[in-house]
Amino acid sequence: MINEHYLHMLENKSVIRELSEEATRKGAKIGYENVFDYSLGNPSVPAPESYKETLMEILNTMDPMELHGYAPTTGNPVVKKELAASLNKRFGMNYQDIHIFPTAGAAGAIAHALRAVTKEGDEVIVFAPFFPEYNPYINDTGARIRIVEADTEAFQINFEDLEKKLTDNVAALLINTPNNPSGAVYTEETLTRLAEVLHRKSAEFGHNIFLISDEPYREIVYDGKKAPYAAKFYEHTLTCYSFSKSLSIPGERIGYVAVNPACEKADKLVAMFGQISRGIGHNCPSSIVTIAMGRTCDDTSDLSVYETNMNLIYDCLKELGFTVTRPGGTFYIMPKALEEDSVAFCKKALEYNLVLVPADSFHAPGYFRMAYCIDTEKVKRSLDALREFVNKEYPDRA
Ligand SMILES: Cc1ncc(COP(=O)(O)O)c(C=O)c1O
Repeated sequence: MINEHYLHMLENKSVIRELSEEATRKGAKIGYENVFDYSLGNPSVPAPESYKETLMEILNTMDPMELHGYAPTTGNPVVKKELAASLNKRFGMNYQDIHIFPTAGAAGAIAHALRAVTKEGDEVIVFAPFFPEYNPYINDTGARIRIVEADTEAFQINFEDLEKKLTDNVAALLINTPNNPSGAVYTEETLTRLAEVLHRKSAEFGHNIFLISDEPYREIVYDGKKAPYAAKFYEHTLTCYSFSKSLSIPGERIGYVAVNPACEKADKLVAMFGQISRGIGHNCPSSIVTIAMGRTCDDTSDLSVYETNMNLIYDCLKELGFTVTRPGGTFYIMPKALEEDSVAFCKKALEYNLVLVPADSFHAPGYFRMAYCIDTEKVKRSLDALREFVNKEYPDRA
């Protein structure tokens, strides 16, 4: 018999995908160069040369049986050592290979982390606004999603609401910094306060509450700053990382979970991930991509274009009177729409060839998201369209 649950999920098609399809249809009609598509978070800069060169080198020099063979259940030990050394050097941690588990991107990392620290009926807290895929990521494990409302000033953490919702049923918190869609980067103060709450509540409930930190945008931070590393602040942290954005290789599907060595059952969690893989059919990511990633994990694409684009867009939005918080990183910005119904707002924008995404599915109704991972030349042309749209449709805005 067919599974009604997944059949039903087909009805909730992603708004982002639908808008992107609409952009493609428009592009076929009026030329793709004339459609300003801010819908998808696909990196717009190529992978660094070092990644390509590494792939060529390992293809030409490594034993093909090793290169194309199965990796051990918990991942290639050489790569795990390389990743641990890189994290230790960059963030002052003390990971060993046994704490690292290569995965198919951040999605694969989160799938393992969630299953290892929750059971059927537990709650997992997320913080609005959040990546809509967190809904299936969490709900399909048998745990339930619990949403803490947004801090709409700076998009840090609404601690008042967190204190209310952090009950004995909560097994884990899933955070995302730098954040998709707001672009906010959690400050040291935010992470220190979060750790204090987690320690206090863990003691009160008599069990440790895990922190799952989703960090695919860790390397895209502006103004010469660095994103504070969440695991440094709270020991029971599982860091979920992806090279999709930093190396511009989302199609390679590569990332990892790093288990804080001071975390509960730190010596067992990676082995548990291996067992979880057996059930969900994930198994190790591609051997060749894993090896290349281990050798280039300290490199990035040229990410500077995102900051250039952000500054152009932010300045224009402010000039036009939008309420918007300046992003600290990522390639997203989330302004308030100029009418309450952000879906209606984004539909109107389409008439001006601007593909903007209503942030309702990010649990931020009334806002919209722009993914500015597009060419700067196109961003500049799009700002004329944005000015025309806003001045014609909302002449009486405050
Ligand atoms: C916040 C967030 N988490 C996880 C993912 C999934 O990343 P990956 O492509 O590495 O699976 C994305 C992808 O856009 C994301 O924005």
